[in-house]
Amino acid sequence: MSSSSSNVVIDRLLPDNWAEGQMRSDMLQALTSTPKRLSPKWLYDDRGSELFDQITRLPEYYLTEAERSLLVKQSPHIVAEAAKHGISTVVELGSGTSDKTTTLLDAFWEADQVKTFVPLDVSEQTLLDAANSLSERYQGLEVHAVVGDFTQHLAKLPAGPGRMIVFLGSTIGNFFVEERRALLGAMADTLQPGELILLGADLYKQVERIIHAYSDSAGLTEAFTKNVLDVLNREFDADFSKDAFDFVPFWDPQENRIDVRLRAQMPHRVSVRDLNLEVDFGEGEELQIEVSTKFKPEQLAAELDSTGFELVTTWLADGPAEASHTPPQPDFGLFLARRR
Ligand code: AVJ
Repeated sequence: MSSSSSNVVIDRLLPDNWAEGQMRSDMLQALTSTPKRLSPKWLYDDRGSELFDQITRLPEYYLTEAERSLLVKQSPHIVAEAAKHGISTVVELGSGTSDKTTTLLDAFWEADQVKTFVPLDVSEQTLLDAANSLSERYQGLEVHAVVGDFTQHLAKLPAGPGRMIVFLGSTIGNFFVEERRALLGAMADTLQPGELILLGADLYKQVERIIHAYSDSAGLTEAFTKNVLDVLNREFDADFSKDAFDFVPFWDPQENRIDVRLRAQMPHRVSVRDLNLEVDFGEGEELQIEVSTKFKPEQLAAELDSTGFELVTTWLADGPAEASHTPPQPDFGLFLARRR
């Protein structure tokens, strides 16, 4: 542990080259398994993060704005609930720049309900920048930044009681059912009874609206997805050609999720020299890139219940006005739950 400025403490749970080693074993596994499936975590190199940021500003990609306005509207109510539960520490998983979180932190700060903010992210530089700018914005707030991976290091968070884990952006939707269960379970294992989690989750709605958010006309989602091939080419001296693959996002009605894949147009072989790998693609063979689950509120409530949480409050963002004969469908939800 080391201190970089008065109220900022950095905890490094990861060795310096952790990301490289993790990426290497992940990619090796992904490219040699059947079906081939990458982890969405590797979509976010500098270029991927930039493309994702552009996606969040597309009119079709309703999620970010829906969550932002929900936070603007409900933060005082979230703080009021947190106060009832004795919360004094806000922990943010996958915090990145903590941009959206300032809306929530502003409300906590104004109500004098937060002593410590614990942002956790794999990217040390992003974390440092965010930690420094937050400790400047909130004079006297303790910022205890943790360089770590939230799928592995929840047990090493600063101890409770009085913590609220915040997990925004519907990142929870990127996990497969079993992984999601494990992640919620790990949060429950870490928290003490009475501590809270706040989840931001995209909701099930009219399927066309969902599909449009992942097949934008500007082609940004395609570029974002195919960027992972550039990551492989750069990091592992591979020779993937982006033109050899079609971008195939589709709606999976069984699992209620968008499933994004890259499909090989023709049979071909790719060398991944740094992994000592020759990867063969058959005609039409797919590389699975990510899923984005759209939740029904009662389903997420049931998953929370079965992993050790009790739902406290749900705040829903209204979707667009629809034809009068169809019931209005909320766009996005914030779910506050308490460790039992
Ligand atoms: C950042 C995981 C919430 O699933 O909507 C956006 C990522 N992928 N467009 C999502 C994403 C394609 C995004 N999350």
